[in-house]
Amino acid sequence: MKKTILITGGAGFIGSHVIRRFVNNYPDYLVVNADKLTYAGNLENLTDIETKKNYLFEKIDIVNKQSVLDLFKKYCFDGIIHLAAESHVDRSITGPDEFVFTNIIGTVNLLNSALNSWKNSPEGKLFYHISTDEVYGSLGKDGLFTEQTAYDPKSPYSASKASSDHMVRAYNHTFGIPVVISNCSNNYGPNQFPEKLIPLAINNIKKNKTFPVYGKWVNILDFLYVEDHASAIDHIFHRGKVGDTYNIGGNNEWKNIDLILLLCRIMDKKLNRPSGTSEKLITYVKDRPGHDLRYAIDSSKLQKELGWSPLPEFADGLEKTVEWYLTNGKWLERVLSGDYGKYYDLMYSGR
Ligand code: NAD
Ligand code: TYD
Repeated sequence: MKKTILITGGAGFIGSHVIRRFVNNYPDYLVVNADKLTYAGNLENLTDIETKKNYLFEKIDIVNKQSVLDLFKKYCFDGIIHLAAESHVDRSITGPDEFVFTNIIGTVNLLNSALNSWKNSPEGKLFYHISTDEVYGSLGKDGLFTEQTAYDPKSPYSASKASSDHMVRAYNHTFGIPVVISNCSNNYGPNQFPEKLIPLAINNIKKNKTFPVYGKWVNILDFLYVEDHASAIDHIFHRGKVGDTYNIGGNNEWKNIDLILLLCRIMDKKLNRPSGTSEKLITYVKDRPGHDLRYAIDSSKLQKELGWSPLPEFADGLEKTVEWYLTNGKWLERVLSGDYGKYYDLMYSGR
């Protein structure tokens, strides 16, 4: 094999798309997926590639320093794409501790092991840290997040990701580890855990259950199709400048409520229900504490310097996503029948 690549969090939503892309597109790379398999890790996301010769799975908790050291003793990694994280803002509000452990300490454990393993020959190695646009906080009505925007995280999730970004940059600056970071907007697409807005709404509409849209319905997000994020990660991993940061976004701002209304229209059409049926399931609920008003990303650096561009129009991507969830009902049912059931009842039912 030409290279051995560690991808952390590869059983999760975005990680599984990155693993599939790398395993299929780079047969001469050995791709090692290291994942703890938390509630969000689902190896069923990878059944189509799991028997390929260039793919291996390692169940490890990155918070456990010894496990990370052992992993780096077992393999000589040429590159690391670090996605493993606690990723859901609502969970970071009900229980911030896990976010500190996994997102900050887990990242530092990986940095220490990479430093130790590459100290004699850092050339050609890369520690690629996957982060979020939420580290920049919230925009007003105008403007875009650029790579120069000052960090101003507002939730325990975004604060933990911001801390990990700082540690990655500090290890580059202080110890010379070759790193690159990207900060991406909200992703959507197949295999997303149904606690996030789009799959949650699809699942509830399918079951004729109400679903919540938080607050005053004024929040604006930039949504990116998950395969576009995977392709951006591929571009940055192979062509990104060491030490640099790249913003990734779809140039696709949506007010939550407009997005949900579009989704409702697609669901009515796909389920052959009279138009307006799904819309009646939307419920007004109290806002998420500390809810950021607006995210919008300027990804022109990535587009100009590395030639990346996002593919599907949002309406097409959303329709594709709905089709995936409707034809993969078994995937959804299996996910919902796990521990998630209890959390789902706690957070989303009875509102
Ligand atoms: P996810 O929650 O779907 O998946 C996270 C994965 O990490 C799971 O497979 C989980 O088992 C694994 N994991 C969690 N804790 C671990 C630990 N201690 N040790 C090893 N593995 C562990 O998350 P996602 O939405 O796929 O996000 C992946 C990455 O992308 C995260 O770093 C997130 O911050 C970032 N990101 C996500 C979005 C988004 O919209 N989802 C946008 C920008 C950036
Ligand atoms: P979400 O999908 O939870 O992603 P993240 O964890 O990255 O915030 O939230 C996306 C947006 O949707 C955010 O503005 C909060 C809103 N939202 C709702 O209005 N209702 C919901 O049930 C959820 C889960 C999110």
